[in-house]
Amino acid sequence: MTGSRSKASYAGAIFSTLFRLFTYVFLRVIPIRWCKYLIPAFYLAYAVTIPFTRPLSPQSPSPSPPSTPEDNKQGSNAAKDESNNDFLWELLFSLPTTRVASIITWSINTLLIVFAADFVFTPLIDSAADVTFTRVGAVYPDSVKVIVRYPLIDHNATEHNVRILWRPATAADVEPWTDGPVLRLDPEFDWTNTTKLTKLWPSTEYECARIGVHEQDHATVPNSPIRFRTFPDSRLPTGSHFRFVVSSCLKPNFPYAPFQNGRIKGFDLLADYLFLESAVIDTPGIVEPVSVNDNMTESPIPLERNVGIEANGSVGNVVPATILEPERVASTEFMLFLGDFIYADIPIYHGDSKHAYRRLYRQNYNSPSFRKIYERLPIIHTYDDHEIINNYFGQSNDTPPFANAEDAFRIYNAEGNYDAHVSGQHYYDFRYGDVAFFVTDSRRYRSNPFTGETATRTMLGEAQLSALYEWLGKVNQTATFKFIITSVPFTSLWTHDAQTDSWAGYASEKASLLSALHTVANVYLLSGDRHEFAAIEFNPPNEVGVGAHVVREFSTSPLSMFYVPLVRTLRAASDAIVPRTRLRIVDEESPPEEVVEEVPMERVLKYLPIGNYKWSTIEIDTRNPEHPKLNLEAVIDGKVAYNLPIDATPVKLRSSTALGSMVPDSIKDILDRVGLTPNRWF
Ligand SMILES: *[C@@H]1O[C@H](CO)[C@@H](O)[C@H](O)[C@H]1NC(C)=O
Ligand SMILES: *[C@@H]1O[C@H](CO)[C@@H](O)[C@H](O)[C@H]1NC(C)=O
Ligand SMILES: *[C@@H]1O[C@H](CO)[C@@H](O)[C@H](O)[C@H]1NC(C)=O
Ligand SMILES: *[C@@H]1O[C@H](CO)[C@@H](O)[C@H](O)[C@H]1NC(C)=O
Ligand SMILES: *[C@@H]1O[C@H](CO)[C@@H](O)[C@H](O)[C@H]1NC(C)=O
Repeated sequence: MTGSRSKASYAGAIFSTLFRLFTYVFLRVIPIRWCKYLIPAFYLAYAVTIPFTRPLSPQSPSPSPPSTPEDNKQGSNAAKDESNNDFLWELLFSLPTTRVASIITWSINTLLIVFAADFVFTPLIDSAADVTFTRVGAVYPDSVKVIVRYPLIDHNATEHNVRILWRPATAADVEPWTDGPVLRLDPEFDWTNTTKLTKLWPSTEYECARIGVHEQDHATVPNSPIRFRTFPDSRLPTGSHFRFVVSSCLKPNFPYAPFQNGRIKGFDLLADYLFLESAVIDTPGIVEPVSVNDNMTESPIPLERNVGIEANGSVGNVVPATILEPERVASTEFMLFLGDFIYADIPIYHGDSKHAYRRLYRQNYNSPSFRKIYERLPIIHTYDDHEIINNYFGQSNDTPPFANAEDAFRIYNAEGNYDAHVSGQHYYDFRYGDVAFFVTDSRRYRSNPFTGETATRTMLGEAQLSALYEWLGKVNQTATFKFIITSVPFTSLWTHDAQTDSWAGYASEKASLLSALHTVANVYLLSGDRHEFAAIEFNPPNEVGVGAHVVREFSTSPLSMFYVPLVRTLRAASDAIVPRTRLRIVDEESPPEEVVEEVPMERVLKYLPIGNYKWSTIEIDTRNPEHPKLNLEAVIDGKVAYNLPIDATPVKLRSSTALGSMVPDSIKDILDRVGLTPNRWF
């Protein structure tokens, strides 16, 4: 290319290219906060250069040696190719070639800045003030929590009442509706309220719905009732077979697609995954319900399973189950959402007001993608920093913006959680059959990770820590599996700011807790936060066997948000090691000899950093008490990316009916061993 370009043309090209690069990163890769300054700045700089750029002057035909007509034809083709190339060059790098190209370049850039503005500002303008929803939160064997939002914004009313109706879910819609509680909805609580339906039967399918109280006429059958199934009675020694989903971190419409701010693609993929294939419900004691969506003439259970037809066609009595059993998926009973449900401060901070925090929750509940999930699956929540502000540590002080952030989290997500032992707290525990869960609050009480000695820092705070140890002592002998939920990873293998923001920054408290966890069979930690998936193994400092158990952690995120490209942030193993003896067979004749080798205290089993949409499902099967099983399935971008089946340790369960009166002796030993002083707690 020989035309002359002004300096302004080159400057414009550079600004335009930088503008496009940062806009792409901001909308599709990571919504980095400072991009909100760079993007408009580069756009302005590019726009300023426009009047000073000039397209290339049409090239004067250069004198060429006399040529044959054949050559001439090739020459004109080449010229055409070159001008095409120039055109592409212009579009790609914004170097002006022709007037048309400049206009196209300007249009592309202007469209991009409109997209960026849509991504940043539409959530501020569209406040989803009129979103209406009913959802199910905590499920117990005999009750369930129902969360309702039903605003009256077009009227002058300052408050109004709604009633919850419920009934057993049957195929034929014959059961009459039962009047449940009346709820007062008040703008002070953003028109939300939460109630508990009680006196339900365990392992039973119900449906519930909301009606306005003035619609007293029950002939008005509520549309779209919410179905749920109560949990099994945990006193039954029958074992359980179920799945649950775990994930964290979502930002609507990221990676950005033009003008689809209500879309949360992770939930769309999850809905396809969960509801496209029908699941089989087979926790003992649960009667398989007949779904109204299925064709009633078809048995939901394939015939072979009940009768057993042998290969030669005869109906036999003893049929190897593995041959005839169809591929079966245990039903998914709930989802655990481990925080960063909203991003209060990404890409811009929405402000320290109730209004600003509530708006972000409303927008999520207004999302058709999320509605597909929360109208069909109970969701249990905890929060992480972005519900409050990046890397928040509360130090028990509830420093701003905690109060306003907590208000919105409470009315939208936490009221629907299991009741805490101490009211007003966001840590709690619950059970599904013989499986126990403890959900921690790892933000409100954590101390400043940048000051003081590690030994003096706390992640959970004294009261919560004692509740966790107490729970551990109880579930040790009364639950087969124990899940501890922490929004930030327990492992110290994540680098960068995880070294201060995760449990790595609270190393002493972590080490004490871990040494207690190693004495309990089948302990699993579930976490999120890092926008990556990893399965981690913690090896006990003494031989695995009676009294020493491997602890594992599954960290899964994001459900629908960025992942970190290019940089890998997880180390494969800890430097700290523990000795292990292994039996080595020398030859057939002599007895195997013992070899001592060293294994890392913390080790990565699987690391899957890539992917914007991740969740894990955990399937538990304790129907055979001698062989309890767990299967982890990590799903990334809608596809199964990893399976980890684990044969768990059998646990001889003590009757949990004595739970209330049982004072765990073992836990006192543990606390003594880890240097805590139980006297202050009990
Ligand atoms: C609401 O209040 C305004 C003014 O006070 C009144 O004109 C209007 O009719 C009221 N609307 C309803 C639905 O009551
Ligand atoms: C929910 O409704 C009940 C019953 O009307 C009422 O007592 C309670 O104050 C309401 N709670 C909220 C948060 O509005
Ligand atoms: C149910 O299945 C029967 C037999 O396969 C079929 O004739 C009928 O159309 C189906 N009904 C619906 C609603 O799909
Ligand atoms: C089918 O197999 C069963 C068990 O192997 C056998 O008892 C029975 O006689 C067989 N029936 C036929 C028709 O071959
Ligand atoms: C759990 O039970 C085992 C066996 O009874 C005991 O050795 C261990 O100390 C207990 N751990 C806790 C935390 O209670």
